[in-house]
Amino acid sequence: MNYEQIIQLALERGFYFPSCEIYSDAPAGFWEYGPSGTSLKNKFIELWRRELVRRDRMWEIDGSQIMSKSVFVASGHLSSFADPIATCQKCKSIFRADKMIAEITSIVVPESADLSEFDTIIKEKNVTCPKCHGTFDSVRKFNMMFKVGIGPQSEDAYLRPETCQSIFVDFPRLFKTMRGKLPIGIAQIGKSFRNEISPRQSLLRLREFYQAEIEVFCNPNKLNDLERFSEIENTELRLMTDDRIQVMSCKEAVDSKVLPNKLVAYYLGILVEFYQKTGIDISKSRFRKLGEKEKAFYASSAFDFEVETTVGWLELVACNYRSDYDLKSHSVTSKEKFEVLDDNEKVLPHVFEISMGIDRSLYTILEHGFREDKENDRIVLSIKPYLAPIHVGVLSLVKKDGLAEKTDEIFLNLRRKFDTFLDHSGAIGRRYRRLDEVGAPFAITVDHQTLQDDTVTMRMRDSMNQERIKISELEHHLENHVAYP
Ligand code: GLY
Repeated sequence: MNYEQIIQLALERGFYFPSCEIYSDAPAGFWEYGPSGTSLKNKFIELWRRELVRRDRMWEIDGSQIMSKSVFVASGHLSSFADPIATCQKCKSIFRADKMIAEITSIVVPESADLSEFDTIIKEKNVTCPKCHGTFDSVRKFNMMFKVGIGPQSEDAYLRPETCQSIFVDFPRLFKTMRGKLPIGIAQIGKSFRNEISPRQSLLRLREFYQAEIEVFCNPNKLNDLERFSEIENTELRLMTDDRIQVMSCKEAVDSKVLPNKLVAYYLGILVEFYQKTGIDISKSRFRKLGEKEKAFYASSAFDFEVETTVGWLELVACNYRSDYDLKSHSVTSKEKFEVLDDNEKVLPHVFEISMGIDRSLYTILEHGFREDKENDRIVLSIKPYLAPIHVGVLSLVKKDGLAEKTDEIFLNLRRKFDTFLDHSGAIGRRYRRLDEVGAPFAITVDHQTLQDDTVTMRMRDSMNQERIKISELEHHLENHVAYP
């Protein structure tokens, strides 16, 4: 199913919708999760915690969204976190230069290219304003951070453009109080904010968005000294080299130097194992090494984890080797000590980052999960049961004859353990279809036989098969089938 169909279902079934939509001045690039989307997001985050944070014994923190100006002076965001923009001289419309040039001429100029490169292409290819055909001013940079004023004096501070800055700033305290030992991953889930020039495509380019970031602090002299590498050495990675995807194990990738070291391969390996469990079609994924001009300003090397969708390849995760860029600059600016002892060696740790976009990941799970079952005239979200917004629908076949009361009783017994949806009204077929569209793996129906033998029908979402099951066995059955793997 394509992007347009997904968004229609997202709106109709409570996954996500535009923020402040009842007002005409609602700014673009802000979306809200409804009950189905929130439930899916929470389960996705729980899976992330299990498969990455707990698996690797990382620490998770929860930092402030507003941070001081000094943080972003040190991080380089004040000087370098900017997009190239072109302003029309006639109608004053503003466009992101790299995107506009790509759309009009199909020429890809990396966003970090010199500004003169954009001007040259605009001139040579006679690129004019898409709205009024006016000519453009010289391309300039626009800083994408949201500035906020703190207190009555309105002191400058910023909404964080990436969650990881609090991890860097907090590192000395965390390492000391948690008795750290390198390598150590520090993780954080939260909102980040970027004043995108052209937010678009709902969850895919937002101004306020969720990140799940992991910063792995390591000794740069020991990047191949990682015992737990053996856990993933046979895990297959789809690595893009020379414009084609090569499938190789983590071990082969390190041995053949396609990946620089075991530490990087290990984290790409556990990342893939995580995404396999989300149900995203891994055969449509790749790790792409970014070119010099594509990388973020803080990265010395970078691999994007990208997944193919109906709107093209989407970057779901940026895996950046940030070296000592952040700790060194925070150390210089704050005068705080960031060096730590590693087996009696004093080191300024390097950082390998796994920066995940949650919103895009959720979109991709939905797009890869939705299917049209034409034979049965239905749309089904074939999502992993542990990610399903609703685990089980509890339905009465009819409301009368005491069936509604019996259904309520079952619902009350299940509701604390499972995401349960109670539904008494409407044609049973239509109620099943609605549950299919929110991915509920099971629907149980109370009918007249229930009153005689304490059994219900259990319908399976994907096969539509139904079986009779004792009420006393429901909890155990559901526990087995919706548990995280
Ligand atoms: N921390 C990397 C990013 O936000 O892209």
